[in-house]
Amino acid sequence: MAITIRSLQEYKASGHKFSVLTAYDATFSGLISAAGIPAMLVGDSLGNVIQGQASTVPVSLQHMVYHTECVARGNQGSLILADVPFMGAATLQRSLDAATALMQAGAHVVKLEGGAWLAEAVIALKRNGIPTCVHLGLTPQSVNALGGYRVQGKDEAGARELLETARALDQAGAALMVLECVPRQLGAAVTAAVAAPVIGIGAGPECDGQVLVMHDMLGLNPRPARFVKDFMADAGGDIGAALRAFDTAVQDGQFPAAEHCF
Ligand code: KIV
Repeated sequence: MAITIRSLQEYKASGHKFSVLTAYDATFSGLISAAGIPAMLVGDSLGNVIQGQASTVPVSLQHMVYHTECVARGNQGSLILADVPFMGAATLQRSLDAATALMQAGAHVVKLEGGAWLAEAVIALKRNGIPTCVHLGLTPQSVNALGGYRVQGKDEAGARELLETARALDQAGAALMVLECVPRQLGAAVTAAVAAPVIGIGAGPECDGQVLVMHDMLGLNPRPARFVKDFMADAGGDIGAALRAFDTAVQDGQFPAAEHCF
């Protein structure tokens, strides 16, 4: 049966931890969904892992639409999230246009990076039947403003602000949240404070779900971040086995372990 937003909400309500992986093409979309991973993210990390860019800033809406179409063709029942790329949410009109294009390309949910100012877009998209996932914490599209890929919400003021932002966007109607690179305690606090399922990446095991960039968890990144685990290391070259091992480790609470947390 196809996974929907309601499935992820039910997982949160019942305490069932769920896995999410990035996907960019039909072949891996088929493998990931066949492995039983409930959701796939057509991430703008495709700028890094597919295009060889230094950041996600050069990724355009056209690129996102193309890869979302590819993933949708290979999908076998997973929920597809697609990233609104750099500057795509700079105005309400741009958010609506980007979301329209991504949904028509086959996404089920659109993901927007930013802060409390996303509330306007979240409300407008919800009114038009488009569920949103807001991406908080380390937001890679803002790498230049952040001064690098750094853990966010480390001090008390930063943590309080992030928690308030999460609450505000939850109230606005965000269907999902991605929380990237924050201290474990903050990941736990946000997850407990909001109704939306929270998908962590470097945000600790208390998050409702865990996402990794597929290339990272297949051991293809020579300089992986602290929060990455190479699931291919024990899979003997079997991609399907590595995908299933990730899913099982998330469900069992084995991943992320202490060494993957901040
Ligand atoms: O673009 C992406 O892959 C992402 C994940 C890192 C969450 O946003």
